[in-house]
Amino acid sequence: MEKRSLFSSKIGFVLAAAGSAVGLGNIWRFPYLAAKYGGGIFLLVYIILVLTFGFTLMVTEIALGRKTGLSVIGAYRALNKKWAFLGVLSAVVPIIIVPYYSVIGGWVTKYFADFISGAGTATAGDGYFNAFVSSEWTPLFWFAVFIAATFVIVFMGVEKGIEKASKILMPVLIGLTVAITIYSLTLPGAGAGVAYYFMPDFSKFSAETVLAAMGQMFYSMSLAMGIMVTYGSYMNKKQDLEQSVKQIEIFDTGVAILAGLMIVPAVFVFSGGDEAALSTGPSLMFQTMPKVFGSMGEAGNIVGAAFFLMVLFAALTSSISLMETVVSIFKDKFKISRKRSCFISLAIIVALAIPSSLGFGMWDHITWNGMTILDMFDFTSNSVIMPIVAMLTCIFVGYVIKPKAIIGEVELSSQFKRRKMYRVFIKYIAPFIMAAILICSVLQGIG
Ligand code: PHE
Repeated sequence: MEKRSLFSSKIGFVLAAAGSAVGLGNIWRFPYLAAKYGGGIFLLVYIILVLTFGFTLMVTEIALGRKTGLSVIGAYRALNKKWAFLGVLSAVVPIIIVPYYSVIGGWVTKYFADFISGAGTATAGDGYFNAFVSSEWTPLFWFAVFIAATFVIVFMGVEKGIEKASKILMPVLIGLTVAITIYSLTLPGAGAGVAYYFMPDFSKFSAETVLAAMGQMFYSMSLAMGIMVTYGSYMNKKQDLEQSVKQIEIFDTGVAILAGLMIVPAVFVFSGGDEAALSTGPSLMFQTMPKVFGSMGEAGNIVGAAFFLMVLFAALTSSISLMETVVSIFKDKFKISRKRSCFISLAIIVALAIPSSLGFGMWDHITWNGMTILDMFDFTSNSVIMPIVAMLTCIFVGYVIKPKAIIGEVELSSQFKRRKMYRVFIKYIAPFIMAAILICSVLQGIG
């Protein structure tokens, strides 16, 4: 057996885990959910959920990984044979997500290439996006570029690949985020957008707000998919686990809030204060934002290039964590070398990505309940399997191995300050709320 590699530094672990968390979800999904669900009130609910549920689940997953030194399948099995199925179930999630996530990563790469080559204005044209995604080869080509970059970094290993890449990509990402936000805030008329973003609108507040915030929080913090278990298994036993979780949360939530501050005012200025422009969902990033950049004249190409580079780095660090999770699952499960596991993972990713991509063109007749192939993958992983995994993980820790198993692991390195809250949440609150989310998200998807 190869020796298991570890992150060499504390900051390396935090940046890699934050890199996983900060992704497409923070940049396009968070701002439009905030706009849709009442601005300030959504932000407030979101932050509370991050500090309670998010904290509980993230501590649990990292501790499970570090305690066992194994990726998900092995980790659950090592703690209780009967619960090995939960590891298998968690392992399914990243295998479903990486392919389609990388297809979207390919779109981002293409847009970045357009802007950096000075051809950004073309992307603002009506129909540009649809023509692009529905063509057969172009999106597959850009997917190939994106997955190749992901592959190279993962192939180089935990310390030399992932940790090194995170130490370069994350600071650049933060720098770009701050710079674009400042630019966006200085646009004439941005104030109204900022007010719209932060002002709580209670008329839009309902149980649905909480559910939407909860779903977003899980996705954004990369929970319930074995990623944090895997990264935890590479974490040094001496590192302060609780503090690391706090830092990851600050990164993740900070970038989400800043993304809103860069997108909401800019779209507001562009659309003359039309709220509808913000609630276009996924097309916000690929259709509305290019129009916003198009309206900036000369500066548009530069700001657009900076924006898509930032999105690209965010997507890349996330897909790295997804692919690493898949690689480590196969490596641990089939006792094969890391290299071989990298190639097997790549083959599976490519095989699943092709239908996800073609589902917008040649295979667009294959739908289920109005969902394209990509949406089906997304629905199965995010709305069905992830809530099940989250719920069962809480039950497993709360009632099978008991919270003290996790608390003990956290306390190997330092005192567990929020230990009481942890115990109450994992045992009495989280499992029930998770069950509610599961029911609602499945109903929403098929309804
Ligand atoms: N957390 C990432 C984001 O916000 C998404 C992600 C999902 C990353 C699944 C890895 C795995 O975009």
